[in-house]
Amino acid sequence: MTELTPISFTQTDLDAIATHTGRIAVFVSPDADLTGAAAAVDRLTGGAVARMMAGDGFKKLKPGDGMTLTYPGAMAAEAVEIFVAPGSVVEQRKAGGTIGKGRGKADVVIFADDAATAAQVAYGAALRDYAFEDHKTGGTPAGGQITVMTSSPSDAEAAAAPLLAVAEGTFMTRDLVNAPANVLTTTAFADQLAEMSALGLKVEVLEEDELAKLGMRTLLSVGQGSDSPSKVVVMRWEGGTEGAAPLALVGKGVVFDTGGISLKPAAGMEDMTMDMGGAGVVSGVMRALALRKAKANVVGLVGLVENMPSGNATRPGDVVASMKGDTVEVINTDAEGRLVLCDVMWYAQERFKPAGMIDLATLTGAIIIGLGHENAGVFSNDDDFCTAFLDAAKAEDEGAWRMPLGKAYDDMLKSRVADMKNVGGRPAGSITAAQFLQRFVKDGTPWIHLDIAGVASLKSETPLAPKGATGWGVAALNRLVANRYEG
Ligand code: BES
Ligand code: MN
Ligand code: ZN
Repeated sequence: MTELTPISFTQTDLDAIATHTGRIAVFVSPDADLTGAAAAVDRLTGGAVARMMAGDGFKKLKPGDGMTLTYPGAMAAEAVEIFVAPGSVVEQRKAGGTIGKGRGKADVVIFADDAATAAQVAYGAALRDYAFEDHKTGGTPAGGQITVMTSSPSDAEAAAAPLLAVAEGTFMTRDLVNAPANVLTTTAFADQLAEMSALGLKVEVLEEDELAKLGMRTLLSVGQGSDSPSKVVVMRWEGGTEGAAPLALVGKGVVFDTGGISLKPAAGMEDMTMDMGGAGVVSGVMRALALRKAKANVVGLVGLVENMPSGNATRPGDVVASMKGDTVEVINTDAEGRLVLCDVMWYAQERFKPAGMIDLATLTGAIIIGLGHENAGVFSNDDDFCTAFLDAAKAEDEGAWRMPLGKAYDDMLKSRVADMKNVGGRPAGSITAAQFLQRFVKDGTPWIHLDIAGVASLKSETPLAPKGATGWGVAALNRLVANRYEG
């Protein structure tokens, strides 16, 4: 797993400004006199900070943005980054992100004032300081460290600890989503989750024979064309009141989606290595909760399959029975995610009687047409639960937008030969996919479906992530757990 760059919090030592040989980051308030670390840099550089701040470029910067002074005179550092003091948490993290991105392999010293700012800047730096180099020969080994200097290092460290647990969970999600499908097979995925028992999670791997006994025929129908065995992994974190109903998180884990017999076009098919993104987020959240010892009961379930064409693959027109008992006419073998989720969701409710259930899936291309890469699609049968999630996502600056459900959409799933078909046609493709899932939600189970096809992996970088897997949702779900299920 990609490791976080080591971060330590120490008492502010202004002497380090002259002697530190790596990079330095300081914050300034454009309208106030220079103080502390920024004033010291200014003195050592013969007024360079003040001149930079007087320039037009600097005046255009927003809080949390910065400019870099390279090889500053009379300092040992290779660069000093000067940031407009961030106000909000999002701005603090963005400044951290810039530091994390610019770091390279150098040691960084960040001069932050209060403990809360120090923790958020550290979190932003940790998140952006990520590179997926598992498969680069001679990829430069990680190096360097981040030191955050503050007036109250122990408070900063305490504030940062749960955030860095989320960063570790996010790294796990990114590593899983970035991994190629010949490496992250269903077996490799399950093995990696089983290792999380070392963190205090109770992990079970259900194999094909057990899944067959449970009646998960729709899930098994997706994986039957692949040489990789289908699996369901159950991860339980029991940090809350004993016996209290858990929150259930359910993830789509299609390690590769060729479309099956309804084969996808060749162009861009390689992107379907990320079709286990829902399972990746569930795994990362469970890791974060375990690392920070969350005082909540949360169960994570992932359906791990590979959707391949073969002589044994499901055909269009096949009818399969779900664990619930309802039958599905498979019109399009490329609408496979819902066939995986419906069985795992049913199993989650039967076994755990959850207080709430959230499924995550890279489910439809249509959600990208609707919302682009800015927002995940949010579908829910419960306004209160849904609002709690949307609030958590907003606080974490993770885009999420609620979409409608309704009977007319559900009617589009009617089948001539079975209880339903697995596609509803081109119109409202993301909504009919959600309607399909809702048929497997019991009355009285508050439920949210998150279609993350547009946000799980990006072709461009963001303030807190390089190109590729984002880890979208780990922070929002962690916060939802903290807000709604702890304390
Ligand atoms: N995994 C895809 C959805 C997807 C598309 C994820 C683009 C990420 C990026 C899903 O299994 C799929 O193929 N959906 C079909 C559904 C259709 C056949 C009803 C789609 O969106 O085209
Ligand atoms: Mn598909
Ligand atoms: Zn898929």
